Amino acid sequence: MDEDFVTIGGTELVMSSAPVIVDGQIRGAVATIQEIGQIQDLDQKIRKKKLHKGHIALKTFSDILGESEAMKTCKRTALHFAGVDGTVLILGKTGTGKEVFAQSIHNASRRAQKPFVAVNCAALPSSLLESELFGYAKGAFTGARTEGKAGIFELAHTGTIFLDEISEIPPEVQARLLRVVQEREITRIGDDKVIPVDVRIIAATNRDLLEEVREHRFREDLYYRLSVLELNLPPLSRRRQDIPDLARHFIASACLSAGRPCVEAQDEAIDILKTLPLNGNVRELANIVEKTLVMANFKAFDLAAVRQAARLEEPPEEEPTMGSPGPCGRLAAAEKALILQALEECRGNRTAAAQSLGISPTTLWRRLKALRACP
Ligand SMILES: Nc1ncnc2c1ncn2[C@@H]1O[C@H](COP(=O)(O)OP(=O)(O)OP(=O)(O)O)[C@@H](O)[C@H]1O
Ligand SMILES: [Mg+2]
Repeated sequence: MDEDFVTIGGTELVMSSAPVIVDGQIRGAVATIQEIGQIQDLDQKIRKKKLHKGHIALKTFSDILGESEAMKTCKRTALHFAGVDGTVLILGKTGTGKEVFAQSIHNASRRAQKPFVAVNCAALPSSLLESELFGYAKGAFTGARTEGKAGIFELAHTGTIFLDEISEIPPEVQARLLRVVQEREITRIGDDKVIPVDVRIIAATNRDLLEEVREHRFREDLYYRLSVLELNLPPLSRRRQDIPDLARHFIASACLSAGRPCVEAQDEAIDILKTLPLNGNVRELANIVEKTLVMANFKAFDLAAVRQAARLEEPPEEEPTMGSPGPCGRLAAAEKALILQALEECRGNRTAAAQSLGISPTTLWRRLKALRACP
């Protein structure tokens, strides 16, 4: 089939033509002309329909932000994994981007145009998870659909299956999964027919899976089968320099989805984000950014709003009753020097300085006042 792209009267068209061959001789031709916009609409509709079923991955490597060495290494490794077909195990605390990486690997792999099916292994009870993954045969159990049902491994055929929270898979399902990983074939529950499946597996967990193996909660043989290619995503606290880029990206996308003009972030507001504990990692950062914008009615992104959104203490205005200045010995002088040094390192940001010293901003302020007279 030949294809040509033309623009007529401002409308982009695609013309396809194919010869009609009868007994080895060209007898005519069939040509179709379609508006490109219409084809794109149709493509969108198909994608939405697939997405509705959860069989498509939306994220790609260009969605993954972060210029820290740690993030660059992760992206490089993941890109490398996308080029091969082995089973991938993604490890990382909550909100570090395990799902984004799984989708990006799929989309950069040779399976990109094929289904991407995600399963949260923690969301279903054991028996349901088993039939969800492997399907069941006609009349396999009471309540089973009479015609039987294909499992997710069959649905993901030729594509990628993403087994999220893999550590939560109960022992009986682990045994069945091991067989699929080894043999690349499944049998539906209540059936003995073997169905070959061509599926790439990406598994993820926020637990220490080796520890689960040591505690005999996770099969060792399955662990080694799954962790052929391992990707470790570092927590945000180990790559704080990525925070400004991420925050600015979340500000822009929150404003966009609220239909409001993008606000300029105050530098101090971005700085304070870098000092937060952020145990919920990138997801928590996105939440704080959104909350900050909502609190400021999408008009500003400033220090006061971030403090409020992240529930940080404001330094008290009143003279504190505790911590009256004591005699200024060497210890007090050293304490003052330490606090001043921390403040300098954090460019005057009290919350950050307090955090680096392991005390609350209120205590920092109180101690500074108490040590006022010290050299
Ligand atoms: N490097 C990144 N760049 C841009 N967005 C990111 C990045 N990492 C994570 N995100 C975003 O942060 C949110 C959380 O990421 P994701 O769902 O992939 O985390 P997770 O590790 O699967 O978390 P959980 O263990 O809680 O399921 C998502 O909205 C994702 O798009
Ligand atoms: Mg996840």
